[in-house]
Amino acid sequence: MTIYLDNAGTKKPDEKIAGDYLNLIKKSYGNSSSLHSHGREMSKILENCREKIACLFSVEPDIVYFNSGASEGNNTILKGMVDYALFYKTIGKKLPHLIISSIEHPSIIESAKILHNHKRAEVTFIHPEKDGLFKPEKIIDSIKAETILISVGFVNNETGVVQDVKKIGRELKKYKSSIGAKYPYLHTDITQAIEYNTINLERDLIDIVTFSGHKFGSLPGTGVLISKTDKFFPLISGGGQEMDKRSGTVDVYGIYYLVKVLENIAQKRIKNTKILQHKKGKLEQGIEKIEGAKILFKNSPRSPHISLIALKNIEHQNLFVILDKQKISVSIGSACASKSQKISYVLKNMQVDAKTIRETLRISIALATSNNEIEAFLKILAKIYADYQGR
Ligand SMILES: Cc1ncc(COP(=O)(O)O)c(C=O)c1O
Repeated sequence: MTIYLDNAGTKKPDEKIAGDYLNLIKKSYGNSSSLHSHGREMSKILENCREKIACLFSVEPDIVYFNSGASEGNNTILKGMVDYALFYKTIGKKLPHLIISSIEHPSIIESAKILHNHKRAEVTFIHPEKDGLFKPEKIIDSIKAETILISVGFVNNETGVVQDVKKIGRELKKYKSSIGAKYPYLHTDITQAIEYNTINLERDLIDIVTFSGHKFGSLPGTGVLISKTDKFFPLISGGGQEMDKRSGTVDVYGIYYLVKVLENIAQKRIKNTKILQHKKGKLEQGIEKIEGAKILFKNSPRSPHISLIALKNIEHQNLFVILDKQKISVSIGSACASKSQKISYVLKNMQVDAKTIRETLRISIALATSNNEIEAFLKILAKIYADYQGR
């Protein structure tokens, strides 16, 4: 038996879409930028996908850009907005200023650091409170005349903590209307949020979102950037695809897959969220029965798919290897951090002490995770832990 508990790392592609996907590959081909009938057909499929995404997020299709995923989207927004502001001097002669949550995915943190180190921007990294949540007032207080962007992720990928991005949006709107400013824009990475939250850019006062398809059951290498502002330069230039904001031939097949999965998710979101909450409840009740085990950020709002646990006095690397030998896949922090020996900056910035950080495991479930798998995992974990302590 194998047990997959790393659904926040990537989720098994939704097989129900595979038939339609294969049919599309068999039936339609051609470069979506070509003017001939084959190209026009692909372009029609792509534009149809764009309209569907626009509809799901309550925006106009012309602000929806397809790309390779959240890493690309995040890089595009941070670097592209800074370069645009520098080139057009939209905030005068000073360096553009960014307010960045310190618990973001490395695609945001590293981009911000590069901009800062290359003296293209000034960056303020803001930290959450002990409960993992940001205080919107603190974010607003960090705004300067040169601030062009605030970036706070919706759901943290290591802890599952859900930020009140809508409240940040409301506070920012108040602030901007009070001084009649256009900047700063509010960006939120919704990669871990999209499956269990309805996000409406108008209602929620969010300007920019980025996400990857493979986190909710479509294919790796596909993603979406939605931006109400066009004041950013493309990261990839070339043939001018995606309204000049992202060159390169679009993976129409992959985008088709992504949109189909997302439409299914949107239809069943409330029901599926409840089912998953129930599953996570079972998992966490079981964890809490193991003496020495605890759930982190238990009392904060959390996504139903992520549970960060810590087992006292067993280093996560050791536990990870033992579980892996039994074909149980979990994660030490985020997937990309798992390969490095460094402790998680995310947990550090969320005020988790260094010892506990080294004892954390991220368990992330999906609808496909069966109750039997959860029970089997709990039994195996309890046994491993008891054996380890009795060595
Ligand atoms: C919140 C968040 N943002 C961005 C990414 C990057 O996604 P990708 O590797 O598909 O570009 C991830 C992946 O772990 C993530 O969890």
